[in-house]
Amino acid sequence: MKNILVTGGAGFIGSNFVRYMIQKYESYHLIVFDKLTYAGNLDNLRDVFDHPRFAFVRGDICDAQAVEDVIRQYNVDTIVNFAAETHVDRSIMNPGAFVHTDVIGTYTLLEAARAFGLERYHQVSTDEVYGHVEGERRARESDPVAPRSPYSASKAGADLLVNAYFVTYGVPVTITRGANNVGPYQHLEKVVPLFTTNALQDRPLPVYGDGRQKRDYHYVLDHCEAIDLVLHKGRVGEVYNVGTGQEIENLQMVEIILDELGKPRSLIQHVEDRAGHDRRYAMDISKIRALGWEPRHTPEEAIRKTVRWYVENEWWWRKVRDAEFEAYYRAQYGRRRVLAPDEVAGLSPREESAEA
Ligand code: NAD
Ligand code: TYD
Repeated sequence: MKNILVTGGAGFIGSNFVRYMIQKYESYHLIVFDKLTYAGNLDNLRDVFDHPRFAFVRGDICDAQAVEDVIRQYNVDTIVNFAAETHVDRSIMNPGAFVHTDVIGTYTLLEAARAFGLERYHQVSTDEVYGHVEGERRARESDPVAPRSPYSASKAGADLLVNAYFVTYGVPVTITRGANNVGPYQHLEKVVPLFTTNALQDRPLPVYGDGRQKRDYHYVLDHCEAIDLVLHKGRVGEVYNVGTGQEIENLQMVEIILDELGKPRSLIQHVEDRAGHDRRYAMDISKIRALGWEPRHTPEEAIRKTVRWYVENEWWWRKVRDAEFEAYYRAQYGRRRVLAPDEVAGLSPREESAEA
């Protein structure tokens, strides 16, 4: 492995991965291939942009010719695919882009990996493909996928294709399924950066429904270490869950943010829930632990560290929080009804049984 094509490398996790890999491996070349959608941001890569072992190519993973050209030009031997449409709320507004990039784009990359006989194709997937996980159970890699949003359905479709290319054509693939990442350079549409920057501006934090949904908030560099490990020590054809293994309620996440910022709880505003909102994600991470990986941060540590990064990097988020983002914010949140306290109190038991 020496020339790694990092698709979607101008986004949140991909840019953290590039920085991590370029520092760790002195002989590796990192080539970012990114369409630069609204989520792609060259500021995320500014400290590696002039590195002699870094290259950036603007392109679409659905464009087979462009993918072939970049593989040939840089003698690529490995693809790590981060490129995707990634935000559940946007997938509810506009599912087509998700099916296109997440499914057709993955297919296009797999075809290239097959044609060029690449050493490895790694797919960066998500715990959301398992859908809502009941009770105390934790999703294992052998569980069937049961996605419930257009985003997670597209990601699950991609995972199934990746497995098919391993079984049918022998393409050397691996898949990691990551929990909710937090950390530097995450787009403001996602909950922790959104709530942090709202709170910094004394704007309300729109908590969906009762806020008692459970997520495993996981530090992005822990995730990057896990992907690195799977690339080097993972078994071809296998899936690995990656997270802290400790999910918390969204309201706890909100309280951690407010505490870290010294802001009042009165900023919390319960609003109408997301359609089809998965109540709980929870994964069993024993398989990746057995490979020799441990998360370095608990969800609380990950969230606090992330909040501090946003406080210290206002230059970055002010540019992202531009007129286009504010227009998105109005479209996404303007129509959401604010819930009265008695409505919020009545939500939990009804929702739990509706999900069962
Ligand atoms: P992101 O939205 O921050 O970045 C996605 C990047 O992909 C952007 O730079 C965008 O420009 C690029 N892109 C989009 N469509 C493209 C296309 N057609 N061709 C080329 N580039 C394209 O996403 P992220 O949060 O960094 O997520 C990266 C990957 O990790 C995704 O596959 C996502 O499903 C997965 N994942 C994310 C999380 C999370 O919590 N953020 C958790 C688990 C898995
Ligand atoms: P998000 O960051 O969008 O990730 P995902 O939906 O992929 O898990 O949301 C994380 C959790 O926060 C999820 O349960 C939805 C909730 N949420 C809110 O309550 N309010 C918001 O404004 C957003 C964006 C998310």
